[in-house]
Amino acid sequence: MHKILVLVGSLRAGSYNRKLAGALEKIAGDKMSFTFADLGALPHYDNDLWEQPPETVTRFKSQIEAADGILVVTPEYNRTYSPIIGNAIAWGSRPPRESAWTKKPAAIAGTSPGAIGTAAAQALLRSVLVHVDLKVMGQPELYLQFKQGLIDDDLQVTNEGTREFLASWINAFDAFIGQSKN
Ligand code: FNR
Repeated sequence: MHKILVLVGSLRAGSYNRKLAGALEKIAGDKMSFTFADLGALPHYDNDLWEQPPETVTRFKSQIEAADGILVVTPEYNRTYSPIIGNAIAWGSRPPRESAWTKKPAAIAGTSPGAIGTAAAQALLRSVLVHVDLKVMGQPELYLQFKQGLIDDDLQVTNEGTREFLASWINAFDAFIGQSKN
């Protein structure tokens, strides 16, 4: 079973991206175990904090190190990924030469009520994840336009085509992690 650290880029209780991550967890079943990083607990990035790093930061870095794969599920804010995702990437990448991201398999997903389903945000995020030397899955991509009721309160995907697509996407990510270990 692959251990996945999940970074959800929205803090709001009714987040569509949190729902999408929950639906993916359900679809993954016993292929993957999901741990949701507490991005809201991380302080704003401040280099001075490394003198005595907060427990939330050291825990986050340990969670990255323990994971077989990283899943980033981001909303699109003003055509880019959300600030808590950028903050988390910064914390994981430091101090110099002690980045926790190096060579970890990763995948990007996201949903928005907008028609392009976070495509603009994901394009920018991909370049940053490659920069911090994560191994980012290229295909398939997961852009999802969120419609009311698409994911119900039990985190079931109500549209059959979308459910099948998400299942195939999870299978591809699982296989990508397996290949990355070789
Ligand atoms: C948005 N939203 C948005 N949507 C989009 O498709 N493209 C965009 O560029 C933006 N820009 C944007 C900026 C800011 C500051 C906010 C708060 C929102 C709308 C966004 O997709 C919507 O609020 C989602 O519901 C956010 O995701 P969660 O919180 O539901 O996961």
